[in-house]
Amino acid sequence: HSFAATVQAVLARRMDQPGALLPILHDLQDTLGHIPADAVPEIAGALNLSRAEVHGVITYYHHFRAEPAGRRVIRICRAEACQSMGADALLAHAELRLGCGVHGTTADGAFTLEPVFCLGLCASSPAMAIDDEVHARVTPKVFDALVAPDVA
Ligand code: FES
Repeated sequence: HSFAATVQAVLARRMDQPGALLPILHDLQDTLGHIPADAVPEIAGALNLSRAEVHGVITYYHHFRAEPAGRRVIRICRAEACQSMGADALLAHAELRLGCGVHGTTADGAFTLEPVFCLGLCASSPAMAIDDEVHARVTPKVFDALVAPDVA
């Protein structure tokens, strides 16, 4: 199933509904894991929008990715309880250790780094998640141990 065929199928299903842009982008994100650059002119053409408008919406919402995510997604909590327990330092450590910024992906494609707002572990902050598995009281040392098998 090629990207192009998926884009065509999503457009055919959605293009006539009002406010189709966001549902189309969500469908593509869910199906393909990102929104390929080649899809932008096709979406724009189908909805009678400019490419810049479509591109603007993709970049505005961090939920949409222009590139595929890494194999695992690390989410570091940036909400209040974690902030007060060193979440900023943890995030800075993660960026340094992974060699990529927030919303970025490591060069080897192993990890994507994202912020998250509360993982429900406020009593044991700072917290982070790797895919669906959550970790509490994450020190830089704990972080290194969690990602070590996958980071050189
Ligand atoms: Fe970080 Fe709730 S504030 S888990």
